[in-house]
Amino acid sequence: MQIIRTVAAMQAQRRGRAHTACVPTMGNLHAGHLDLVRRAHEKADAVVVTLFVNRLQFLPGEDFESYPRTFEADCAALERLGVHTLFAPAESELYPEPQTFRLVPPAPLADDLEGIFRPGFFIGVATVVSKLFNIVAPDVALFGKKDYQQLMVIREMVRQMALPIEIVAAETVRAEDGLALSSRNGYLSAAERAQAPLLRQTLATAGAAARAELRRQRPELARIEVQACQSLRDAGWVPDYVAVRKQSDLQSPSAQSDALVILGAARLGSTRLIDNLELSI
Ligand code: PAJ
Repeated sequence: MQIIRTVAAMQAQRRGRAHTACVPTMGNLHAGHLDLVRRAHEKADAVVVTLFVNRLQFLPGEDFESYPRTFEADCAALERLGVHTLFAPAESELYPEPQTFRLVPPAPLADDLEGIFRPGFFIGVATVVSKLFNIVAPDVALFGKKDYQQLMVIREMVRQMALPIEIVAAETVRAEDGLALSSRNGYLSAAERAQAPLLRQTLATAGAAARAELRRQRPELARIEVQACQSLRDAGWVPDYVAVRKQSDLQSPSAQSDALVILGAARLGSTRLIDNLELSI
């Protein structure tokens, strides 16, 4: 595996290269990331993984400084999967001057849900991903449904900016007890880790209730969302939101036939977890 540290070297490598798939990450790779890499191999001849902990998408007071950095282990895992190139620029390389030019995703999509609790987060994500796309110039890029709203923001960015990149979504990889894998799971104490699957369970219960509710004349999803938050609170969590939305645009459902997704975010101790489930009709 070739490890590339500079923008110039990455841009030089791309000339004349085979069909390329890109997997953007912030490192501390787990089976969810590695599943994206495996799928990337199925989609293209060359696989480029990017590893960059992007300061722009962290709010002041969030975990930018303490975000787990496990470069050696990440390299070993990517080597084993036959990744061709790892693009891992230093911050001074990707942001040699303050990145004052930023991409602002549309408010209805990005200023809701995560955007309410992490204002500016999707500006940081869209800005870095568009910059990485410009440097790597992939034909395909892969993202996890674990970060459902992020995936939608990237899809919309690619569509509106006419980027010639196919976006491929991968299902969320979970631990045996149902907890969605995340680099932030490492922050959980043993007791918290044992409690962590409750987020997914709560979404599953609320999702089933939402499906039944939608078959009624005047469905009231708000009550179900409030109840789900309350059951998290009863178990000692601090929920940010539980929301039933349309898969197509993350707006509130309007018709029975809408394909739905239930999304949730909640803090367990000092760790903020997010998850979502697509609801089959
Ligand atoms: P990171 O959290 O490292 O995630 C990198 C990719 O892995 C994202 O597409 C994310 O959705 C996916 N992923 C994370 N956990 C997953 C799981 N359990 N199952 C399947 N896929 C999973 O997301 C980011 O980094 C950053 O915001 C980034 C897009 C790299 C921009 O900085």
